Amino acid sequence: MSREQLIKMTEHNIAHSKAGTIDMEPDVFKVPATKYYAQDQYEAEVEKIFKRVPLLLATTAELRNPGDYKAMEAVGVPVLINRDSKGKIHAFMNMCSHRGAALVELGCDNAKRFVCPYHAWTYNQNGDLIGISSKEDFGEIDKSEYGLVPLPVIERAGLIWVCLRPNSDIDFDAFLSGYDDLLANFGFETWHMHDQRTLRGPNWKVAYDGYLDLYHLPVLHSKTFGTEISNQALYYSWGPHQRVSSPSPFMIGLEDMPKDEWDTNLMMMGVWTVFPHVSIASFEGGGRSVMLSQLFPGKTPGESYTVQNYMMEHKPTPEQEVEADKQFTLLEYVVEKEDYATGLRLQKALETGHKDHVLFGRNEGGGQKFHSWVDRIIETADEDLNKLFAGSNQ
Ligand code: FES
Ligand SMILES: [Fe+2]
Repeated sequence: MSREQLIKMTEHNIAHSKAGTIDMEPDVFKVPATKYYAQDQYEAEVEKIFKRVPLLLATTAELRNPGDYKAMEAVGVPVLINRDSKGKIHAFMNMCSHRGAALVELGCDNAKRFVCPYHAWTYNQNGDLIGISSKEDFGEIDKSEYGLVPLPVIERAGLIWVCLRPNSDIDFDAFLSGYDDLLANFGFETWHMHDQRTLRGPNWKVAYDGYLDLYHLPVLHSKTFGTEISNQALYYSWGPHQRVSSPSPFMIGLEDMPKDEWDTNLMMMGVWTVFPHVSIASFEGGGRSVMLSQLFPGKTPGESYTVQNYMMEHKPTPEQEVEADKQFTLLEYVVEKEDYATGLRLQKALETGHKDHVLFGRNEGGGQKFHSWVDRIIETADEDLNKLFAGSNQ
């Protein structure tokens, strides 16, 4: 099924590559500049987007073994994701039921049970409260009512999505819109997490715009990626998620081969974004690899941070590791010193209030769709959210 979709996209790419064309949006699109810095807009995005839709918070590579866990914060919410002894993934608030202490420090580790560092209440891997210290002194409570607060979670295609609202009835399948079937072609279940870095950036949408934008590549990145790179983009969408690829002469070469021999890895090239905050871009650096970038709004509208995850198809040999480190350092430089440095300056300029709107051209369909989705989700009531995603499936 997903291979058929890949072949269709590749044929579409070949047709455009031969004609030297791209798909064009009907019009140039305006985004009010205030959307990048107004406090009420920022709060609406945090509450209505980041706290309502599933977020891609972890990878199978980080939690491969029974007992593995990852503790993190997402828009201020402390999250604990773990794999139980049967291999099932759970997500909880990283918050003790006694008085709310964080159960574990931020980061990844392995534990059979979680013992709170404050007064040593103990929870099992299913989040059940299994031990109250000095129970006879504490007094009677019903332990079954004081398990950890669970968060909705799914693991698909070697990636883990969590919803930050405990009682959410979010329909993960409607939200993913079949996009997980496409992402499954990477085979992330068996990939290796090589390295992770965190970068500070401008407003999360300023930062995210850059991942959907190939228009800037040969200009802003002329000193790093070079000027020979295409600035043309083809966008494909599944619900709010978008894949970006460039019309490419490499694709034309595939025409000489029967379609069932077309290389899946070649057909997967480009950038795969996962709404609202993730980008997955393929690279070769010490072997097949991707940079999976997770963007999060910061404490103010003008701040964000990005966790760059460098994942590799295979654990690298020592020589490959040198290559991979070089590649990752270059990508860190490109994003921090070129993309985000530009973003931070434009953010400052927009915040003066002396600009009414910014523009996304007919060639920048990715940004047009992304901003439309941000608006639509903010305007959608809780009870209509699943319908919104279900109705958008192609
Ligand atoms: S807050 Fe965790 S045991 Fe008291
Ligand atoms: Fe860039």
